[in-house]
Amino acid sequence: MTPPWLGPISDHEIDALATLMRDTIQPLVYYNEPAIRAELIKYTPEKLRARAAGDPHAVLVARDATGLTGFCVSRFDDGTIWLDWFGTASRARGRGTGAALLAALASTLPLRNAHKIWCDSRTDNKESKSALERAGYKRIATLMNHWHRQDYYLWESYP
Ligand SMILES: CC(C)(COP(=O)(O)OP(=O)(O)OC[C@H]1O[C@@H](n2cnc3c(N)ncnc32)[C@H](O)[C@@H]1OP(=O)(O)O)[C@@H](O)C(=O)NCCC(=O)NCCS
Repeated sequence: MTPPWLGPISDHEIDALATLMRDTIQPLVYYNEPAIRAELIKYTPEKLRARAAGDPHAVLVARDATGLTGFCVSRFDDGTIWLDWFGTASRARGRGTGAALLAALASTLPLRNAHKIWCDSRTDNKESKSALERAGYKRIATLMNHWHRQDYYLWESYP
């Protein structure tokens, strides 16, 4: 069952989420500069608001007493769910937030009339790889020299 501190984003949290996503993505050592620039453009407050308005399950957030601790952004993709990003604030890592976000995402599938989740990760993003594996995702392909000339794994999950 999804814990009470995790759920769809509220409109008043959008600005904080854009900040958390920027603070999570910008310092990531796994992505080169063009990749980081391209990703940050996709997660402005306006774009996040539009996503949440179009699909109430597209933007899930985790919270504690001081604010947002994590996020999971996904989208409906012809009967599947593409997981764009999940992340945990650096102050809250290693406490089960990432796993809880992936479990909450899985629980949205019937509500979105979708049967599977898929996503990518950088091949050397060990935290992401093991979080996905622990959540039951299977590695289905390796894309060498792909987006922004970087190497990626593709993953899928049938929750
Ligand atoms: C990946 C990420 C979301 C994990 O979040 P988290 O809240 O720390 O994860 P959890 O505490 O729920 O741990 C879940 C699993 O992830 C793995 N994991 C988490 N931190 C890890 C680390 N530092 N090294 C290796 N594995 C790690 C473990 O397998 C863990 O399962 P276990 O505790 O049962 O062994 C977090 O590291 C993060 O935000 N990274 C930056 C953003 C990112 O790379 N997102 C993924 C893009 S594809």
